[in-house]
Amino acid sequence: MTGDHVGASELRSRVALVTGGGRGMGLAIALGLGKRGATVVINDIDPDLVAAGVNACTAEGIAAHGAVADVTHNEQVDGMFADLAELGGVDIVVNNAGILRPTPFIEIPENEWRAVLDVNLHGTFLVTQAALPSMIEKGWGRIVNMSSTAGKNVSTIGGAHYTTAKAAILGLTRAVANEVADDGVTVNAVCPGLFDTDMMRSTISPEQAKAYAASFPIHRLGKPSEVADLVAFLASEQAAYITGAALDINGGDLMV
Ligand SMILES: NC(=O)c1ccc[n+]([C@@H]2O[C@H](COP(=O)([O-])OP(=O)(O)OC[C@H]3O[C@@H](n4cnc5c(N)ncnc54)[C@H](O)[C@@H]3O)[C@@H](O)[C@H]2O)c1
Repeated sequence: MTGDHVGASELRSRVALVTGGGRGMGLAIALGLGKRGATVVINDIDPDLVAAGVNACTAEGIAAHGAVADVTHNEQVDGMFADLAELGGVDIVVNNAGILRPTPFIEIPENEWRAVLDVNLHGTFLVTQAALPSMIEKGWGRIVNMSSTAGKNVSTIGGAHYTTAKAAILGLTRAVANEVADDGVTVNAVCPGLFDTDMMRSTISPEQAKAYAASFPIHRLGKPSEVADLVAFLASEQAAYITGAALDINGGDLMV
């Protein structure tokens, strides 16, 4: 139950929206924010994943709502925020929805290029733009964007479109952070290395994952709950002086 967790009341009055929150890192992040007291909204394009995510949260005693929407569609994002107005607005947004394709650059079809940019980057743009007015009005907000080690270097398992999108998210993070700093809103990015999720498992074999893990200074894959702890810190009061940052969490795979 929520009361058993360290810092369980820390985010008590906050409403947190996690895009792509139905599974993987997004679900771990929603659980992490919820266990610290936030009311969580699980967004996903897949209704079954939304239902499963909400159930996983309520099973932990977390107040959870579902929001089925495709973050690449302006009307669906606006509709989602209109529905969320009854919760008093969203205080914390985690732009986590993302897709990855491993296609070599020379073979990337234009529609695949657009799709990868659309979900990772355009979705972050649309959701952030929809979330900011109420944060600015309240004078408090936290936005955390899911980039990747790929955003600072080159993706190990994704194609050029994925690396491009994750790098662009870092630029977007800095630009928006700069604009809303006076409004009490922080905007940061997290840059995970290789984490054990469906995205990873559907892209590389267990043998490849093992080989990557062995090559990291900390010889293992990341756990989604570890990203969740970092995001929860960025969402907290204690992180009020961190903005425009891109925080690495990669077992030492990239040290910059
Ligand atoms: N797994 C890794 O190693 C890793 C590393 C670095 C960054 N990331 C990033 O972390 C985020 C989460 O990754 P994951 O590994 O948990 O992936 P995942 O594929 O397991 O989960 C992504 C979720 O996003 C949802 N989604 C996809 N398109 C959507 C859309 N248009 N609208 C709403 N939801 C949508 C999916 O249905 C899915 O539930 C992604 O942005 C990913 O790029 C992952």
